[in-house]
Amino acid sequence: MYFPENRPRRLRVSSSLRQMVRETVVTVEDLIYPLFVVHGRGVKETIPSMPGVFRYSVDCLLEEVREVSALGIKAVLLFGIPAYKDDRGSSAYDPQEVVQRAVKKLKRAFPDLLVITDVCLCEYTSHGHCGLIEEGQILNDATLDLLAETALSHARCGADIVAPSDMMDGRVGAIRESLDREGYQSVNIMSYSVKYASHFYGPFRDAAGSAPSFGDRRTYQMDSANAREALREVQQDESEGADIIMVKPALAYLDIIQKVREETLLPVAAYNVSGEYSMVKAAQEKGWLDGQDIMVEILTSIKRAGADMIITYFARDMAHLLNK
Ligand code: PBG
Repeated sequence: MYFPENRPRRLRVSSSLRQMVRETVVTVEDLIYPLFVVHGRGVKETIPSMPGVFRYSVDCLLEEVREVSALGIKAVLLFGIPAYKDDRGSSAYDPQEVVQRAVKKLKRAFPDLLVITDVCLCEYTSHGHCGLIEEGQILNDATLDLLAETALSHARCGADIVAPSDMMDGRVGAIRESLDREGYQSVNIMSYSVKYASHFYGPFRDAAGSAPSFGDRRTYQMDSANAREALREVQQDESEGADIIMVKPALAYLDIIQKVREETLLPVAAYNVSGEYSMVKAAQEKGWLDGQDIMVEILTSIKRAGADMIITYFARDMAHLLNK
């Protein structure tokens, strides 16, 4: 027999050919850009553990969004750093708070921009947990009302999508019910359905000031060793009315993204979280690897695993590159 019949290398001989047979391409429409909003004017604060990421006051946020919109980014995910915290996370559903203001201003300035809001209490509670606390324990069911109230306050300001990240049982249903009751049937829920108790959130907690003051989040976020449990969370959120299913983090959970993609008919989002971003930036600062090449490889792998959209702090850099 003539050797070799097949030469896989033949399809790799030129850049044009490689491009023609490429199976996975990340586009700017896939990207969701997370942004941190603070009170004040003219504020653009650096976050030491997240080089290139900033906390913006609303006026500066509009500037940043103007720039990334020009690069083709269609969606942002907002996190707030509130003026005050208490044990009930009241600033999460305060109509005067910073996320609520930011949503209003963004939707007015950029009507076509998709504004997604993180719905959680940890940035807003004095104890830093994602739910109400009694005697050191999370009160799951009592927390649902506050989460629904938070989602509603974002919808009232014009949010297109609310994204609950608290991991309380039943929150998607509770949020869906209150949105519908108040006439917000067309506001989508992007559920952090599969959210692991991950050490990759470290830099985010610096950025948002949301580290728990005692204990950890292991009674509500998932154990990183579990895969079947992820599918149960997905089924439950689907039955409660989730519109988009999210897996978080992304990189150490590519197998989960793939399983979830096979399990659900809904769109799947993956969150390329703070620690995944900061590791690359740190290694790049040391000159140990090329941050831009690694970024492309990481985002491509997340899409190849099955994500329809990627929430990433690289969104701006990636959009920039795609525009070149
Ligand atoms: C809030 C929330 C967290 C992240 C998104 N929403 C932190 C946490 O659960 O402690 C992490 C995002 C990131 O690391 O980039 N619950």
